Amino acid sequence: MPVPRETFLSNVWRDGIFDNKVLFCTGGAGTICSMQVRAFVALGGNACITGRNPEKTERGAADIASVRPGAKVIGIVADVRDIKAMEAAAERCAKELGSIDFAIAGAAGNFLAPMAQLSSNAFRTVMEIDTLGSFHTAKAVMPYLVESVKKHKNSGKIERAGTGGRIIFISASFHFRGQPLQAHVMAAKAAVDQISSSVAMEYGPFGITSNVITPGPIAGTEGMERLSKQDEQSTKASKAIIPVGRWGEVKEIADATIYLFSDAGSYVNGVVLVVDGGQWRTTGADMGSTWKYPDFFLSGGVVEGVKGGKKSKL
Ligand code: COA
Repeated sequence: MPVPRETFLSNVWRDGIFDNKVLFCTGGAGTICSMQVRAFVALGGNACITGRNPEKTERGAADIASVRPGAKVIGIVADVRDIKAMEAAAERCAKELGSIDFAIAGAAGNFLAPMAQLSSNAFRTVMEIDTLGSFHTAKAVMPYLVESVKKHKNSGKIERAGTGGRIIFISASFHFRGQPLQAHVMAAKAAVDQISSSVAMEYGPFGITSNVITPGPIAGTEGMERLSKQDEQSTKASKAIIPVGRWGEVKEIADATIYLFSDAGSYVNGVVLVVDGGQWRTTGADMGSTWKYPDFFLSGGVVEGVKGGKKSKL
């Protein structure tokens, strides 16, 4: 479906800055990642997106490609938990599109659950998708990013060949401040942040940059649908604890991505760029009247009324 440009990109960027460049993005059909990729493709690049669901991945790729005549976007079915599948996906991407110059480790899994109701398998599943998946993504794309940066030097000057050799990990801010119902995700995303630090330290000498983008509550996303109640009172309470007083737009995450991938972000390496309107500065423990802290935990309550609640096995 055609998406108006102002939905996914501010009008401060120049067309063509990613001409002949290729982005590899895991979880690229998701509501946030697809807009990051769409912004990159709109500015001249081609892309490969990966996902577990064949239909969603292929539809997502075709949809993103429609943003610019002549754009090539390939949907590759691959599970980030499988290193061989990730390596094969990266190889296919580089073969069919000529290179991998940029990467986004975006695939993630989340649901709301108290630790008391989190099985070992539930915890492992999120650790494997988010943490192991991010590690696999970095391992799979790094040889191609190292090749890219040889052609697109990070000199700090405006290089005619443009930029290349950059990776972004998508994380979350829950572990900065403590967030009940997110034991699995706090552990997983804290580790993702540290994987990015390791890439920054160990591949920086090759010219690679590695950074984290931490989105706050972004309107209209699967994450918000899974993790928050959408009624008027809950929405109002949620916005009330965000210093800028509103949820973010997908465009604001795409803009941060373009900043880090473009010349403007060349000297930014090893940072966590939090794009959340200042939300993480406020307390995460006060979840309003819905899951009142700490009463909900003391009562042994079950999350109800949201899609991401525990499903009955019957
Ligand atoms: N509460 C508690 N446990 C839950 C749960 C919930 N809401 N949802 C899933 N689990 C548990 C399952 O019960 C299972 O554990 P068990 O074997 O002890 O029963 C374990 O998690 C794995 O679930 P399964 O459905 O087999 O895994 P999956 O790989 O198919 O799905 C998830 C992965 C669970 C992360 C799923 O939510 C998902 O696919 N999410 C993708 C979309 C997404 O979350 N995007 C991020 C938006 S912020």
